[in-house]
Amino acid sequence: MRLLGFSCGRKMGNSEVLLKEALMGAGESGVNVEILRLLDLDVRPCIFCKLCLWRQKGPESCVIKDDAAFVWEKILDSDGLIISAPVYSLTPPGYLLQIRDRAFGPKVDVGFMVGRKKQKAQGREVFVDERCFKTRAGAFISHGGSVTSNWLSFGLPMLHTMTFALKIAVVDQMEVLGTGSSFPEGVASGPVGACLNQGQVVLNEKAIARARELGRHVAKAMGKPAAQMGWMGDEPGMCPVCHLNQLTITKKNLIECPLCGISGELKIKTVK
Ligand SMILES: Cc1cc2nc3c(=O)[nH]c(=O)nc-3n(C[C@H](O)[C@H](O)[C@H](O)COP(=O)(O)O)c2cc1C
Repeated sequence: MRLLGFSCGRKMGNSEVLLKEALMGAGESGVNVEILRLLDLDVRPCIFCKLCLWRQKGPESCVIKDDAAFVWEKILDSDGLIISAPVYSLTPPGYLLQIRDRAFGPKVDVGFMVGRKKQKAQGREVFVDERCFKTRAGAFISHGGSVTSNWLSFGLPMLHTMTFALKIAVVDQMEVLGTGSSFPEGVASGPVGACLNQGQVVLNEKAIARARELGRHVAKAMGKPAAQMGWMGDEPGMCPVCHLNQLTITKKNLIECPLCGISGELKIKTVK
C-alpha cells in the first residue's frame, strides 16, 4: 500500500512539518509513505490546446514537457493521498491548482474514463488508465498565518477540487490557524512572528498530535471499499458528503453544496 503526501509549502515549512507527522502516523500501520514537495517540481499551466494529446494518448504525449506526467504516475500508483497546504489569500497556493489542472481534473475524471473506455471498445484512439478506477483514501491539512478562521475560508474547499474527479474518499481534514505570516508587516504574525515561522508549527503540540491522528485515519481507510471507509474527522460538517460548511442558498430556498452539488430545501422557522 502506497500513501503519497503533497507538501505544498516551503522546504521544511509548516506544511511539511504537519505532513511528515501525518505520514509518520500512517507509517505506524506499515503503509509505504512518500512525499512530493511541489515547489521542487516544474509544472506549467494547462494551455487548453484543444488537441489534448494527454487525453488521447497519455501524459507522455502532452505538448508541455515538464513534471506533470511524473506527478500523474505518482498519483495513479498511490492508494492514498494527503495534501498539506498553506493558505495564500484565502485559497491554497496557485501552483497547487496549476498541478490540479495538469494532472487531476478531466485527466483523471472517473466518469470521463468510463466514457473513454466505451469509445476505445468502439475502436477510437483514446487513452484509458485502469488505475483511475482504483479506490483511494485521502485527507487534507490546511493552515495559515491568520488567527481567525475566515482567513482560511477557501483552503479546505479548494483542496477538495484536487481529489473529487478521481473519487478519492476524503476521510479526514484539519485546519491549523496561526502558523505565521510571511511578511514583516503582517498583522497576523502568529506566536513566533514574521520570518521566523518556517516550521514553527512544530511547537504547536495540539496540531502535531492531530496531524498524526489524521495520518492514522488515512492508513486505516486505505484498501477498504469506499463505502466502508467512513468519515473519521472531528465534526461531520454541514455537507454530509464533503463535510464542508460552505453552502449556497438560492432565493428559492434551495440549499446546495457548491462542491459536490448535493442539494435540499431550506426551511425557515420563525421563532417568536
Ligand atoms: C502570498 C501569501 C499569502 C498569504 N495569505 C494568507 C491568508 O490569506 N490567510 C492566512 O491565514 N495566511 C496567509 N499567508 C501565510 C501562510 O499561510 C503561512 O505563513 C504558512 O505558515 C506558510 O506555510 P509554509 O510554512 O508551509 O510555507 C500567506 C502567505 C503568503 C506568502
